[in-house]
Amino acid sequence: MDRLKDQIAIVTGAGVGLGAVYSRALADEGATVVLADIADATSVAESIQEKHGSARAHVIKTDVSAEKQVEALITQTLAISGKLDIVVNNAAVFSSLPPAAVTEIDVELWDTVMAVNVRGLFLMAKHAAPHMIKNKAGKIINIASGVAYKGMPNMLHYSASKGAVLTITRSLARELGAHNICVNTLAPGLIMSDSIAANEEHIDDYRAPVIASRSLKRDGLPEDLIGALIFLASAESDFMTGQTVAVDGGSINT
Ligand SMILES: NC(=O)c1ccc[n+]([C@@H]2O[C@H](COP(=O)([O-])OP(=O)(O)OC[C@H]3O[C@@H](n4cnc5c(N)ncnc54)[C@H](O)[C@@H]3O)[C@@H](O)[C@H]2O)c1
Repeated sequence: MDRLKDQIAIVTGAGVGLGAVYSRALADEGATVVLADIADATSVAESIQEKHGSARAHVIKTDVSAEKQVEALITQTLAISGKLDIVVNNAAVFSSLPPAAVTEIDVELWDTVMAVNVRGLFLMAKHAAPHMIKNKAGKIINIASGVAYKGMPNMLHYSASKGAVLTITRSLARELGAHNICVNTLAPGLIMSDSIAANEEHIDDYRAPVIASRSLKRDGLPEDLIGALIFLASAESDFMTGQTVAVDGGSINT
């Protein structure tokens, strides 16, 4: 399908897991994808290039918490295409976080989580928005989580950061709407991404209670997110902004 033909998208945290799935899905809909990750995203880019041609995927190594690197990411993206249509803010400190009681969370780790999961979204908006404003169009999709609604024990840093994602979406939607830029949140529930599926301890602790909390009693799979992502990235959602789409089998109600 060609719902994103001639569009250029940046996906942060595109090197593994859900970011890789989003990148492939955007490319399958016709977009050229810039894969921005602090880790190596080359193999994901190669899989897109094999399917769609070498011009359709570009790797730009980026730490989203570092302003100069985000600035360079946007400049290099514009050099590739002359424009920027879609930003998917997916990068987060997530699977590497061990559960920790509030009494045990180190301040330095707290700040790192906020720097990536919150400041990263601010920096992406700060440097992407001027070009979207010039173009009078744009889609920013912020990845939150059901934990922003439900809360989560032993993950205060992570759940607080995802709560901030919802507020960033709402505020940016109000600020950028005058420029025809749509800003929405995609909030997955527990999804069997590469990192989650490989984490037996996490699955043992969370899988059964999460499934029990759902209306649809099964695991969430990465491909379950693609429909909502493409909807939010495409013209199909042009009159929708500031909203959260939860894809979690009906565990939370937004
Ligand atoms: N998998 C789930 O169950 C689930 C549920 C709800 C929300 N989410 C959210 O979805 C997103 C992806 O989840 P995942 O399971 O693929 O996570 P993951 O931990 O496997 O992947 C995170 C990606 O972000 C990248 N990253 C980390 N720090 C970065 C930085 N400073 N700059 C650039 N990139 C950086 C990592 O290298 C990695 O590629 C995250 O935002 C996560 O919070 C996941």
